[in-house]
Amino acid sequence: MRVLLVGGSGQLGRELQHCKPADMELLALGSQELDLREARLVAARVDAFHPQVIINAAAYTAVDRAEREQEAAFAVNGQGAANLAQSARSVGAYCIQVSTDFVFDGAQSRPYLPMDQANPLGVYGASKLAGEQLALAAYPEGVAVVRTAWLYSAFGNNFVTTMLRLMAERETIGVVADQVGTPTWAHSLAEALWQMCRVQPKGIWHWTDAGVASWYDFAVAIQEEGLGCGLLEREIPIRPISTVDYPTPAKRPAYSVLDKTETWAALEMTPSHWRQALRRMLLEYKENRGA
Ligand SMILES: NC(=O)c1ccc[n+]([C@@H]2O[C@H](COP(=O)([O-])OP(=O)(O)OC[C@H]3O[C@@H](n4cnc5c(N)ncnc54)[C@H](OP(=O)(O)O)[C@@H]3O)[C@@H](O)[C@H]2O)c1
Repeated sequence: MRVLLVGGSGQLGRELQHCKPADMELLALGSQELDLREARLVAARVDAFHPQVIINAAAYTAVDRAEREQEAAFAVNGQGAANLAQSARSVGAYCIQVSTDFVFDGAQSRPYLPMDQANPLGVYGASKLAGEQLALAAYPEGVAVVRTAWLYSAFGNNFVTTMLRLMAERETIGVVADQVGTPTWAHSLAEALWQMCRVQPKGIWHWTDAGVASWYDFAVAIQEEGLGCGLLEREIPIRPISTVDYPTPAKRPAYSVLDKTETWAALEMTPSHWRQALRRMLLEYKENRGA
């Protein structure tokens, strides 16, 4: 199966390359090689490679900066996703569009189903929702939207690598305890996406690791696991703080746990609990760092 991956240099893109099944032929492109905003270039690249599957792991992901760069966020996350879906349609390729829990407002207190009403609180979430809608409208018979959340990986900068740095540098840290979601190892998502390439379900799907946590719970686990595997040398106090004590330009959902039941059934796979995934990621991170 020939697969075109856009966003190959991002943390999800790198994990997809890392766990590529042997029977898949993969062309992975970063933004230097293919800019999603350039509709004609996207069409030409897709036509030349003629993939059977296209995975869009590319995005404008600067959640706070998006509040003042609305046009830039929509150009990549909205129109860019539409450009790719249109090109996928022209060659009959199955097209996976990765999206986010930030399409929801977090007012619910049970996990969000794929068909629950989206209501983004910020520009990033709105631009990703636009991408979902434009891609599905352009190619309803060939697009799958996969919403995920709280991604981290041994590759790139993310909450886990930031926490490890701060825990080594500071005497104490405060972490938001009133936002709840599911930390998700990009590697777990990558494995699920490879399975999607085979099963090819269409429409909207949810995938994260299993379980729930606040950012504070996640930070406490990072410290415990980091001490356990020798990435951290000393323990520091971690204070639970509230969102109002840590103001950010973009509002974030207070609750963004996704219901994955349908995806687990369709793909015939279930993810690990997020804490087990974290442990595996930290071991990999330690090995890479030592190399
Ligand atoms: N990170 C999270 O916590 C999170 C949570 C939920 C959902 N998601 C979604 O998951 C997906 C993967 O996220 P990630 O964390 O792997 O992102 P990331 O590490 O920020 O990587 C983003 C990728 O997009 C590429 N890109 C940016 N602008 C582009 C353009 N105009 N044309 C083509 N490529 C472009 C980047 O290329 P360069 O490196 O060359 O600039 C990079 O490869 C995204 O759809 C994101 O919205 C992420």
